[in-house]
Amino acid sequence: MVLFEKARKVYDDGTLAVDDLDLEIAKGEIAVLIGPSGCGKTTSLKMVNRLEELTSGRIIVGGEDITSVDPVQLRRKIGYVVQEIALMPHMSVAENIAIVPKLLGWEKKRIQKRVDELLELARLEPTMYRFRLPDQLSGGQKQRIGVLRALAADPEVILMDEPFGALDPISREGLQNELLELQNTVKKTIIFVTHDMEEALRMANKVVIMRQGRIEQMGSPDEIQERPATDFVRNFIGEDRLANISPDSPLDTLVQDPILRVKPGLNASEVLDLMEDEGCETAQVIDRNGKWGGMALLWLLKKASKKGLSAADGVTRERKLLIEEATLRDAAEMLADKDLPIPVVSGTGEFVGIVTQAGIARLTIGRLTRKRREVLD
Ligand SMILES: Nc1ncnc2c1ncn2[C@@H]1O[C@H](COP(=O)(O)OP(=O)(O)O)[C@@H](O)[C@H]1O
Ligand SMILES: [Mg+2]
Repeated sequence: MVLFEKARKVYDDGTLAVDDLDLEIAKGEIAVLIGPSGCGKTTSLKMVNRLEELTSGRIIVGGEDITSVDPVQLRRKIGYVVQEIALMPHMSVAENIAIVPKLLGWEKKRIQKRVDELLELARLEPTMYRFRLPDQLSGGQKQRIGVLRALAADPEVILMDEPFGALDPISREGLQNELLELQNTVKKTIIFVTHDMEEALRMANKVVIMRQGRIEQMGSPDEIQERPATDFVRNFIGEDRLANISPDSPLDTLVQDPILRVKPGLNASEVLDLMEDEGCETAQVIDRNGKWGGMALLWLLKKASKKGLSAADGVTRERKLLIEEATLRDAAEMLADKDLPIPVVSGTGEFVGIVTQAGIARLTIGRLTRKRREVLD
């Protein structure tokens, strides 16, 4: 259904983000792309609906080379769900779900019927939810509406970029189960991006482990767990990762992708706009070589922006942990002190990822879930 053939993306500044990716995703399959921050997951997704254009290679969706389809038409045929769902704040739940069907010129009756059908599918009573505004919904409900919106016009293919990444662990598990149930009925072809191995193993028919724009290993969840092909994969899955962690364990299991990474040269005001769009309080400033320039904070950026300075002038470099040294205890203590993401960097200054309070909570839940499974088995 979706075929990548030597798909390559080099950004204008020379960053090689996706390196001749070959990948085939069958109809009705959920493929999960997973890998460290910056390995090219988001870029791979965005090439499918042409939010980013391929530098070379081909992508075929439903038998059609995507470059032969008008990008706007293409995007109406492909559902897209991102981490921070941008529901239209002034539009009701029903109107938000109906965006694409409306663009496609569906009749009013048909749209109404479809909206109710979808709400029921997600067990949201239509009479209760149809006319609510987004700010009358919980985070989990918003994200659900985002998924329904992507399903609205019944696209064959759905792209999901860390769709549940911003949710607390309980809502997250709920939505994962719901999506799997939904998938039993709708049988879509889904490309799902995550940095969370538990989530990948739970959701995927096919797990695609990426590293530096390439596929490191690909296979069913069982294959990947039973036969990790390289040390990188072994580390990444870390079978004992959850069973054996202690407060003195290294940070690896906690590290996740930031929502926003920006280049140091951007104007502080541009970064403020991006943060507003994404609903973020922080952004990581990373140069083209992957070196960390600091964590941009709203108040620092506002000051920098008033003076017409760049993103690099609106950052703090105080808050950080070193991947080689820091332990889970260090992270937990820092987070208990202040609930702001902690950037994780290497001794040579490369950006590795961030750790968050939500991540710690997720780790705890993941561990308890696994313990429960062990007891049940
Ligand atoms: N618009 C852009 N311009 C330049 N480089 C980019 C851009 N978007 C992403 N990159 C770079 O491309 C690489 C892959 O990024 P991305 O696909 O977002 O990775 P992931 O989603 O796996 O974290 C990273 O090195 C990132 O810094
Ligand atoms: Mg990403």
